Amino acid sequence: MEKPFDFLLKNGTLIDGSGSIPVLADVAILGEVIAGVGQLEGASANEVIDISGKVICPGFIDSHTHDDHAVIKSPQCESKITQGVTTVIVGNCGLSLAPVRLDREPPDPLNLLGDQKDFSFPDFGSYVERIDEVRPAVNVAALVGHTSLRVNHMASLDRTATEAETAGMRAELRSCLEQGAIGLSSGLAYGTAIEASTEEVIELALEVKESGGIYATHLRNEFDQVIEAMEESVEIGHAADIPVVISHLKCAGPDNWGRSQDLLDFIDHSPYRDRLHMDCYPYAAGSSTLDLKQVDERVKILITWSDQHPELCPVYLHELAAQWGISQLEAAKRLQPAGAVYFSISEEDMLKIISHPKTMIGSDGLPNDPHPHPRLWGTFPRVLAEISREKKLISLTEAVRKMTGLPAANFRLSQRGLVQCGYFADLVIFDEQDVTDTSTFENPVAAADGIEMVFVNGALACADKALTGVRRGRYVGKQP
Ligand code: ZN
Ligand code: CU
Repeated sequence: MEKPFDFLLKNGTLIDGSGSIPVLADVAILGEVIAGVGQLEGASANEVIDISGKVICPGFIDSHTHDDHAVIKSPQCESKITQGVTTVIVGNCGLSLAPVRLDREPPDPLNLLGDQKDFSFPDFGSYVERIDEVRPAVNVAALVGHTSLRVNHMASLDRTATEAETAGMRAELRSCLEQGAIGLSSGLAYGTAIEASTEEVIELALEVKESGGIYATHLRNEFDQVIEAMEESVEIGHAADIPVVISHLKCAGPDNWGRSQDLLDFIDHSPYRDRLHMDCYPYAAGSSTLDLKQVDERVKILITWSDQHPELCPVYLHELAAQWGISQLEAAKRLQPAGAVYFSISEEDMLKIISHPKTMIGSDGLPNDPHPHPRLWGTFPRVLAEISREKKLISLTEAVRKMTGLPAANFRLSQRGLVQCGYFADLVIFDEQDVTDTSTFENPVAAADGIEMVFVNGALACADKALTGVRRGRYVGKQP
């Protein structure tokens, strides 16, 4: 007699992640993998679940996260799993938890990932081992941060690296790639990397080619010089002959509202377009540490945390400045170090960028923020609900592709991102009409509605917003 399946999910509407049209199908799971897809009459299973009227699709891949430490500290990963996210890409914006060797508090914005004590992975391999030991609820693949490498090899970050320092960084990057890192990330807009020359980054990117990795970049400029910064990212990718992901693409600041079409034209007309992708979150506000350069009286800023005045947060900077009788810039100085949500993006631009076929969905959520931007809990359901169902800017099939098949291909996550026999059983079952994000700027910590079941590596991790407590995630970067 044939061995029964572990789960048989019957009569769902299958959206397989490739962009193909939905079909009615049964999906069977055996162990960690998808063992059957199609009309599976007569199949036996330990658990048969009727999912008529529901969508079944691959688990979502969060293309852009800062969950490096969160997956270890809070391995239940509630903010992710309740959205249907089954894999996170960590190490973005030049900031990776590993490898980092610190003899002081992490410089801003590396402090987004944790305190000095949290940076306990002097080499990349020990991070991978730790993930596999902890078994977080979600799978993890990691980029190596350019800024993290700079911290390890440079005494001061306010200049470009010397030849010897660059060689040191490159050698360390090589060993990370050998130990399973999926590529290099940069955060060239930040003070910790803005003085790095393009050549410094190219030198490191050259190391990525051999491993088949990717270059993901928080552009040097997301404001007036955003096109020049995009040109730089193409120059780096081209010089190293590797694919490029532009992180959280946007044209920020009121002076740049309306420029999204220029950005997308740049991508569509670039000779490098076949190897160029981007990620985006479905909100008209960004978030990071509080950057004095971004204090602009025309832009609303919500202070989410402050080391100097934790008792005041969350608070709007303009309200606080009025109360204190000083300028917003002065108030910002008094709050630092601090975290902020900047309402610096136009909704129309965001909608245009997120709907582009080359755009993946990435939350850019900040898990250590006590009052996080709602994208941490709401990104994926919000794309399904707002962008697809309500605004009808993209089909549901296309929304799912941007969250599954497309990132799996770009980050080379093998046997993930599609519903296919032999692929890992990372699956989401959701109600197309009910799925809705519930987190808001006022109340950001809230699980989405309508995500009914989430499987990770064949195990049920979440049902109707409740975590089962079963954690089957693992490191899924390039296996050495
Ligand atoms: Zn960033
Ligand atoms: Cu980021």
